[in-house]
Amino acid sequence: MRFFLDTANLDEIREAAAWGVIDGVTTNPSLVAKEGDVAFHDHVRAIADVVKGPVSAEAVSLEAELMLREGRELAALSPHVVVKIPMTPDGMGVVRILAAEGLHTNVTLVFSVNQALLAAAAGATYVSPFVGRLDDIGQDGMALVREIASAFRASGVRTQVLAASIRHPRHVTEAALAGADVVTLPFKVLRQLFDHPLTEKGISAFVSDWERYRSRHGRA
Ligand code: E4P
Repeated sequence: MRFFLDTANLDEIREAAAWGVIDGVTTNPSLVAKEGDVAFHDHVRAIADVVKGPVSAEAVSLEAELMLREGRELAALSPHVVVKIPMTPDGMGVVRILAAEGLHTNVTLVFSVNQALLAAAAGATYVSPFVGRLDDIGQDGMALVREIASAFRASGVRTQVLAASIRHPRHVTEAALAGADVVTLPFKVLRQLFDHPLTEKGISAFVSDWERYRSRHGRA
């Protein structure tokens, strides 16, 4: 399973890229709005320059013609751009056209297996089930990821399952076990994945044993 970072913040993207574990970035209009007064297209280009892997940038128009134009403009910003399209009938029409033009798409706001199957039928590169938002309303978000992954496997679908709306480290483990191809996670959750009390304890024991050894023998 690959890791994408779910943010539009360039500092977070630079830091996570330096850790060597992220292959891409997902953004959405809410995440971009959090960055304040940025020029959207320049910002997407800057993100793509840092990550050099798939960067999902969302088309915000809801009408097919406008969405298509927006999608093409976004895709022209960088070969790394993946056009994010909401799960609507017009949206799937746009996905089909963009796919025929060889462009990559990520169908977002997916909350059912049938929506995922429609996205795949339209030719989406990625489909994004929102795990946390289903958990928030008392449903089992991870069950959706598991069912989509198994339905795709059963019918030989090549669309990748991108587990989104991730809230905590356990979601990440469960997404991998459920068969997600990619998980996109907030910076805070990615940072948490590195930590384990026994790792910290082990490192400090190794450091202090090494210092004791050096002070006794005076050399490395
Ligand atoms: C995915 O691409 C979305 O940007 C994101 O995961 C939404 O997460 P949220 O439910 O925390 O807003």
